[in-house]
Amino acid sequence: MRKWVLIGPVLALLLVLVALVLVALVLPWRASRSAPVPALSRPPSPAVAPPVVGADGIGDPYFPHAGNGGYNVTGYDIQIRYDPPTDRLEGHTTITAQATESLSRFDLDLRLPASAVTVDDRPAGIHQDGGKLEVTPAAPVHAGVPMTVRVDYAGVPSEIPGGPGVPSPWVRTPDGAVAVNEPDIAAWWYPSNDHPLDKATFTITAVVPAGLQVIANGALLGGPEPAGPGHQQWRWQETEPMATYLAFVAIGNYDIVRRDTRFGLYLAAYDRGLTPQVANAARTSVERTPEIIEFLSGIFGPYPFRQLGGVVPDAPNLYFALEDQTRPVYSPAFFGSGQDVTVVVHELAHQWFGDSVSVRHWSDIWLNEGFATYAEWLYTERTGGPSAAQTAAQDYVRYPANDDFWRIPPGAPGGGAEVLNNAVYQRGAMALQALRAAVGDQNFFASLRAWATERAGRNGSVRDFLALVKHVSGKNVDDVARTWLFTPARPPSPPG
Ligand code: ARG
Ligand code: ZN
Repeated sequence: MRKWVLIGPVLALLLVLVALVLVALVLPWRASRSAPVPALSRPPSPAVAPPVVGADGIGDPYFPHAGNGGYNVTGYDIQIRYDPPTDRLEGHTTITAQATESLSRFDLDLRLPASAVTVDDRPAGIHQDGGKLEVTPAAPVHAGVPMTVRVDYAGVPSEIPGGPGVPSPWVRTPDGAVAVNEPDIAAWWYPSNDHPLDKATFTITAVVPAGLQVIANGALLGGPEPAGPGHQQWRWQETEPMATYLAFVAIGNYDIVRRDTRFGLYLAAYDRGLTPQVANAARTSVERTPEIIEFLSGIFGPYPFRQLGGVVPDAPNLYFALEDQTRPVYSPAFFGSGQDVTVVVHELAHQWFGDSVSVRHWSDIWLNEGFATYAEWLYTERTGGPSAAQTAAQDYVRYPANDDFWRIPPGAPGGGAEVLNNAVYQRGAMALQALRAAVGDQNFFASLRAWATERAGRNGSVRDFLALVKHVSGKNVDDVARTWLFTPARPPSPPG
């Protein structure tokens, strides 16, 4: 009897053990094969994700090799030494950035030859080809972790062409040089993630022969300061996010004019090599900068930066002006036959449209050039001249329907040189007049102001702007946009 009494519990125990062994065997098998089981499917931590090679382009449809993938730059510390007689530039630029993915290699944009790169103070492997500087860090960099990249480089920027058969964008002057162009200039004097989508802060230090001046963006931190025998250095700093093409340096013999304004320190520089007439016309025009900023801020909202000014180099081969952040650079050609306030209005309007709010891709260039040109028309309208509608109508009839002018749709002008085609400017401004007529003055100006203030320091696309106009006005502007921005033909009638 006792025997049989024991068998029951022993059997039960055996059954339980067998069941436990089965469960132990089957559960992991299920877990590894079935759909996500929360406890077992954590996302891989950045440290263990296999490192990848950063893309050799940021994803711009018109300029597929502009900028790079895999990281965001937070700041550039550019340090150059420049010798005007030989045009030799020696630089070391330190970039602080954050990887957005784990990287075994990444690219920077640089045309000058690099001699050494460190990543977090450890020597990195480098290879340079076609405007790209490939950097292979000693160990992969981790996503989300700040990194510091120092690049040493040297060369003669004016010897590096802008493309096949295209001269260098680096402009030499009789006693110095000026780095000014769009969209390509950064790679001729510093390494970068060269695309407006990756904006960053900048400090720019230049060592030059004693007696020369150096002007750059933002605040003057120091200069002239002693920097070894026969040399002086100048230090500048831009603390608002800035697109790479808007960083500039001008080196030469300049007269510098400074004064405090309610928008910050005004600092303008006029090359001493300009003829007295040109210098005089340049001053008469550029010295109106604070007044024009006051005018524009009344329309577009608060001036987005803390310094203001302008630079006029003695550069006979420079045929354009550029809206360099806080301090546009003007070709002296604008002032060859007297003052030119229009170009000052144009470049200052870019401080809101282009510099503070930057294009997302280069195909969005209408947001810069159409708007800056329309600002010229507004200035005329509000200073006793023809209305913007009248200017638009005059421009419309200037170009007959079969003129090539109408083949470039400003909302999608095409890559290469078409990005800065005249149609982006003129027809681009007409497009704004057409939008203004469609939604009414109040909605139109509210949209411009909202665009400038809500997106200050960031980027936007043409589609984003049109969506904003629609949101502000409650009106469908698709037809106006299609006709004026996206159709490669002359619209049937002048705008508004
Ligand atoms: N954004 C400049 C302007 O407002 C145009 C620069 C033209 N650059 C050039 N390389 N053509 O006028
Ligand atoms: Zn412009």
